[in-house]
Amino acid sequence: MSVEYIEAAKLSDIPESGIHKLKLKGEPLILTRVNGEVFCCIDRCSHEDVPLSLGCIKGDRIKCSYHGSHFSLRTGEPTDEPADSPIRVFPVKVENDKVYIGFEL
Ligand code: FES
Repeated sequence: MSVEYIEAAKLSDIPESGIHKLKLKGEPLILTRVNGEVFCCIDRCSHEDVPLSLGCIKGDRIKCSYHGSHFSLRTGEPTDEPADSPIRVFPVKVENDKVYIGFEL
């Protein structure tokens, strides 16, 4: 399976442990940085479809503000209830100050 990388943001626009929202290919997305490493996930909880950008970053997980489930930013898997299915996460590449998000073709 091949991946198409699309330029999405400047590295300097993505806050450490903060949330940078954007829309790409019609998908609402979140970019964040954890200890300098950039992660990308969908801005939609798998539990009840609310924006995860209303929540916050806790270490390498994102917390949904609605019922409090956390999701791994690496795998998308929920680490506690009530969510029981993963969120979509995307591969990220950083080159100089540019951040690219990968979409499966
Ligand atoms: S809507 Fe996110 S945990 Fe329920």
